[in-house]
Amino acid sequence: MPSAKIYYDNDADLGLLTGKKIVFLGFGNQGAAQAQNLRDTGISNDAILVANRPDAYAEDATSKGFIVEHEFEKAAAVADVLFLLIPDQVQPRVFNDQFAPHLKTDVTIVIASGYNVFYKLLNFKPTQDVVMVAPRMIGSSVRSLYQKGKGFPCFVSAEQDGSGNALATALALSRAIGATKAGAIASSAREETAMDLFAEQALWPNIIVLFREAFSILQEAGCSDEALCYEMWMSKEPAEIFERAAEEGFITQLKHHSTVSQYGQLSGALKLDGSAVRAHFKDILYNQVLNGKFCREFSKIEGDLEKQDSSNPLEQLYVEHGKSELGQAEQRVRSRLAGLL
Ligand code: NAI
Repeated sequence: MPSAKIYYDNDADLGLLTGKKIVFLGFGNQGAAQAQNLRDTGISNDAILVANRPDAYAEDATSKGFIVEHEFEKAAAVADVLFLLIPDQVQPRVFNDQFAPHLKTDVTIVIASGYNVFYKLLNFKPTQDVVMVAPRMIGSSVRSLYQKGKGFPCFVSAEQDGSGNALATALALSRAIGATKAGAIASSAREETAMDLFAEQALWPNIIVLFREAFSILQEAGCSDEALCYEMWMSKEPAEIFERAAEEGFITQLKHHSTVSQYGQLSGALKLDGSAVRAHFKDILYNQVLNGKFCREFSKIEGDLEKQDSSNPLEQLYVEHGKSELGQAEQRVRSRLAGLL
């Protein structure tokens, strides 16, 4: 596999943003962080507009000194750059109905996640630029790392090059929000979506199942709920292991464990045949993620996710998971040890 290109501050020309009106649709996790970083980089407050429905996020933007526009038509009409930073599942509705018809033909649209572009759920004109600037960090870290003078991991790509200069604009915007300081990795909406959805629909569901089944078997063997909860996750040992994996190496971090543990883990992993898991993972990647099956199914229930009662499909899934031995035991342990946790 070829290595990905990495872009740094020197690859980006902030001058490309001179005279441009930069609109942030959304002032939540990412919107608040990116808008503040951009302003602190030296983009004038008058050149920035926050488009937000009247809610607590809009009030937050106003309190931080930003100019806020509640009428999306008006914000769309003046945008030279539009950061699309509202939740992925509401983007098609809000963008296609309230923004797209009023946007300039040469606007640059910036996405922070590949999902809606990869699945072609947003309506762009061919003359418009569509770029991805996708931080790999939660918004509060995007802001705090910038304030500490550090960069943060970020993916960047030009998805549609209407102007012939889309990548250069994407890099200028990446630099303005602080993403090229530590290096922004060249990627694509396809790659970002494939990795994100694969992790969410293959890797982590398997980890949930591994923990659930391990819990049941050890419980059956006589281990107490309290000991199990602590042993398996409440002690935060798994969190520490992943932190060391990031810092020192996925396998190298094992050197911090006891010799018995190291031998058990290293020899055990080599004995396991990964072919069934590999086949299952491939099935999810190709027949659920890349072919759009999940996206089509999710679009059907997306509207129900805003319901405030038990018919909300997400709530139903939480209820279902709460019925497992792990779920039931954790509830008992947490209520018993409420003061200690
Ligand atoms: P968020 O959930 O924090 O968005 C809140 C904002 O969306 C607020 O300004 C709110 O007024 C607006 N909003 C919510 N529902 C709306 C509706 N129906 N109509 C109009 N406005 C509405 O969003 P977040 O998490 O910042 O995500 C924005 C984008 O950034 C997404 O594409 C997401 O995938 C991406 N992203 C998010 C990360 C994170 O840390 N949360 C990390 C990297 C990328």
